[in-house]
Amino acid sequence: MSEIAFVNGTWSALSEAVVSIQDRGFQFGDGVYEVIRTYGKAVFGLREHLSRLQASAAEIDILMPASLPSLDAAIRLGCEKCGFSDIQIYIQLTRGSAPRNHVYPDSSQTTWVMTFRETKKIPQEMREAGVSIVSTEDIRWAKCHVKSLNLLPNVLAKEAAARAGAFEAIFVREGKAMEGAASNLFAVFNRRIVTPPKGPYILSGITREVVLSLGPSLDFEMCEAPLLFKDLCVADEIFLTSTTIEVLSVVRFNGTPVGQGQPGKTTQALHKAFQSYVQER
Ligand code: PDD
Repeated sequence: MSEIAFVNGTWSALSEAVVSIQDRGFQFGDGVYEVIRTYGKAVFGLREHLSRLQASAAEIDILMPASLPSLDAAIRLGCEKCGFSDIQIYIQLTRGSAPRNHVYPDSSQTTWVMTFRETKKIPQEMREAGVSIVSTEDIRWAKCHVKSLNLLPNVLAKEAAARAGAFEAIFVREGKAMEGAASNLFAVFNRRIVTPPKGPYILSGITREVVLSLGPSLDFEMCEAPLLFKDLCVADEIFLTSTTIEVLSVVRFNGTPVGQGQPGKTTQALHKAFQSYVQER
């Protein structure tokens, strides 16, 4: 078992993979990405991740380096080659390598990079205890639905959260809570579960979609609607979703306990349902 990389068709050990220093991903953050994971041998939500990658690339005029079936095949091959059972797959597409100039180069070939390494799971103690979050002003651009490499606001927000002893930062724009720096946001009000609607100010998470689809079978009312910061402050429960954290309870928001200050029953039920869902696929 080994960590491996793929750069424009060439496989190597992760530590040996290189791209040009003139790559526009390196110089401008001019690219898009996906983070995907496997559960055992099954790649979770691959079709959804690839179609989001395609949509992100199209939004910023980056040409896909291969057809979706070829991308799918390369990902499955990488999973076999690396040999881990729970794999974190990272895919990055950039506008290629060219002498530095903001304007798109006349001709460039999309740089296609993938890495395969063992998934780092959220420690069980953290899942059982729940996490803290803090709010921060949303200083991102107006195309947050594009999974762009430009993550500086997210990096700064996540670092500020870490320095405050919190796990995640929640972006707040004009009085509305949007999402985390690397996760989607849900708030529970009795049996009603609210998450901000799709649009230009959130990344439409693959995990978010699954959680929205699971709620009704547990008798929860799932609601995609604006989530006011002031309402988030009085939610019974708050939880975050993403490929890497699945469904994670929040027990403190800006230093104040959420609900009883411990993981809530609704979040726990949804996490259990999510786990059954991934195992059944
Ligand atoms: N982040 N919102 C943002 C801003 C994200 O970066 C992510 C994922 C999500 C959740 O999306 P999904 O459920 O499809 O993973 C929401 C990945 C994990 C990352 O950047 O590492």
